[in-house]
Amino acid sequence: MGNVMNTYNRYDITLVKGEGAYLYDDLGNRYIDFASGIAVTNLGHSNPLISDVISKQANTLIHTSNLYRNPIQEETADLISKLSFGGSVFFCNSGAEANEAALKLSRIYGNKKYAGKKFKVITMNNSFHGRTFATLSATGQEKVKKGFEPTLNFIKHIPYNDINIFKDSIEDETVAVMLEVIQGEGGVVPADESYIHEIRKICTERDILLIFDEVQTGIGRTGKMFGYQHYGVEPDAMTLAKALGNGFPIGAMTAKKDIAEYLSPGTHATTFGGNYLGCAIAKKVLSIISEKSFLDSVNEKSVYLVEKLRNILNGYGIIRGKGLMLGVRLNDNINASDFIKNAHKNRILTVPAGDNTIRIYPPLNIDFDTLDEGIKLLKKSLEDTI
Ligand SMILES: Cc1ncc(COP(=O)(O)O)c(C=O)c1O
Repeated sequence: MGNVMNTYNRYDITLVKGEGAYLYDDLGNRYIDFASGIAVTNLGHSNPLISDVISKQANTLIHTSNLYRNPIQEETADLISKLSFGGSVFFCNSGAEANEAALKLSRIYGNKKYAGKKFKVITMNNSFHGRTFATLSATGQEKVKKGFEPTLNFIKHIPYNDINIFKDSIEDETVAVMLEVIQGEGGVVPADESYIHEIRKICTERDILLIFDEVQTGIGRTGKMFGYQHYGVEPDAMTLAKALGNGFPIGAMTAKKDIAEYLSPGTHATTFGGNYLGCAIAKKVLSIISEKSFLDSVNEKSVYLVEKLRNILNGYGIIRGKGLMLGVRLNDNINASDFIKNAHKNRILTVPAGDNTIRIYPPLNIDFDTLDEGIKLLKKSLEDTI
């Protein structure tokens, strides 16, 4: 790894080129990409529509700072607002930063509206919200916090999908709850519909901000633009990143306008956030994926893929998730890491998640033939593992 800091365990694969749902390594081997860079390249690699926006915008204007008006940032904010719940938008550069912004929003909301009496945040066991100090504190996984204790103590974790525990966990000081509607890193585990409805109701009654972390579920991955849209409720704030830039680093936090206004000039900022290049890309990504025909095709592929996976699995695991955010929870006697190593040998990329799960996240615009090719390779990989 030379001088690269040793913070990742890496597979011994060197990818040098990508085209749609295919990746090529330095030895000329071709892989089918069922990982999408962990839910990032939803529109595939080297997508000409995105490359074209990048080169045009790069040749016009990349960055000016947030000291001046930026029409492309305003248009991208309008689009996110229109496609979700009419909030205003803060742009940043990653999922952790988007969640950090949401946590800061909840703090200033509690400080200003309740004179500092509300400041505690509830998050879920097995959640993942990022690696900054606040977001690793919000993350409900000990392995992420290990070595960094003491973490921030205003955040409490509770079991996911248990409404009674949620009710019992609320205190007068609780200002926000943050959750993923489908836990990604935790093993592709969807929230129950009734759970989300109850939480929404309680948050409204108690003036607790409901924050959905849609960093992984967002931008069409689940077959709707945002994962929460499966549930028929709206959050008070939502965070985005990953697929928003199809690989270009951009994140966003959007909040209902009456809440967003608690963040006033000087309270939050980031140099690169919402620059011309990032926003031009995000605007294009959002406009392609939000087309009804595009989302319909994601759902069609989902039904097809789930059916095929079920046949392949033949009882060796269960399928969880929505749209093309699918997880296969392998039976305990089949090791997910072994499966992934065999998949690599068979030239298909998938990524692991918690709970002995492999994530099946193909690009959303994959065609059926490539999907079929990928399914065959998954079948072979399972046979090689069991
Ligand atoms: C749900 C969720 N939130 C936040 C993050 C952190 O995003 P980033 O790695 O861009 O900081 C991730 C990354 O996996 C995620 O899945």
